[in-house]
Amino acid sequence: MEEKEKPGSEAAEKGGKEPEVVLEARGIDVSFGKTQVLKDLSLDVYRGEILGFVGASGTGKSVLLRTILGLNKKQAGTIRVFGVDLDKASDAERMLIDMRLGVLFQHGALFSALTVKENIQIPMREYLDMPQKLMDELARLKVELVGLAPDAADKYPSELSGGMIKRAALARALSLDPDLVFLDEPTSGLDPIGAAEFDELVAKLRDTMGLTVYMVTHDLDSLFSACDRIAVLGNKKVLIEGTIEDMLASEEPWVKSYFRGKRARQLDLKARPKPGQPTSQQAENRV
Ligand SMILES: Nc1ncnc2c1ncn2[C@@H]1O[C@H](COP(=O)(O)OP(=O)(O)OP(=O)(O)O)[C@@H](O)[C@H]1O
Ligand SMILES: [Mg+2]
Repeated sequence: MEEKEKPGSEAAEKGGKEPEVVLEARGIDVSFGKTQVLKDLSLDVYRGEILGFVGASGTGKSVLLRTILGLNKKQAGTIRVFGVDLDKASDAERMLIDMRLGVLFQHGALFSALTVKENIQIPMREYLDMPQKLMDELARLKVELVGLAPDAADKYPSELSGGMIKRAALARALSLDPDLVFLDEPTSGLDPIGAAEFDELVAKLRDTMGLTVYMVTHDLDSLFSACDRIAVLGNKKVLIEGTIEDMLASEEPWVKSYFRGKRARQLDLKARPKPGQPTSQQAENRV
């Protein structure tokens, strides 16, 4: 059997063994009334990788995310997370799985009436019974982890810049030290340098915390530089899964126009380092 190496997986990098699948979706159908959004969709996410999930606006990227998280109903298919079929999981099993997942939603990243610290503590309050002092200390660590200044912890979202809000939302997604994080358009609205810094942060967290990252994005820079693999949503299913090289070689019309279109051609592949190897421009702009 022909086996393709799956970058981002430790096993693949060590040469040989099949990497661990942390998320497996098979045959997923999702409809809203008579409108079918996803049809027979299948997808694998491997441990330790940054998977970029891309597709035209309105094709169902957020719907799939919400379906995986159990926030939308599916009409068919199975979703296994950490090897557990979510439809068959008991409430206790489901809770243990939910505790291992972190989410940065596309809209409404933070609760506006709560400070950053209080936002980060929401998952702690939901799942754990901890003294306030310990939660404060943990929230402080998360604020530091995502590169925010300590005084950001007591600020309200309205007092933060767009980039700071994204970082604070990431801190909340990391609140319980998850194994798998879902990021829905985390760099939308950021300038290219802010977006590159966010990508770098995500890659650093993947490396240091052993995270697996599922990142919905339209950001070609992120797809080229931060993602180990890419999955493309189209015609209600995953059209193609693979490396950036696979995307560049694809003759599928949407994939071709997205990755080899005018916008993509403006990107100089060679000038874009992998996260952790900042360009001199990024280094100059880093605060
Ligand atoms: N709760 C819902 N009820 C009915 N239709 C919905 C619901 N949620 C999503 N849809 C529809 O599903 C389709 C896919 O929406 P989705 O938000 O997943 O798109 P997307 O790929 O994330 O787009 P974008 O890139 O713009 O964020 C859209 O046509 C949307 O109107
Ligand atoms: Mg969306």
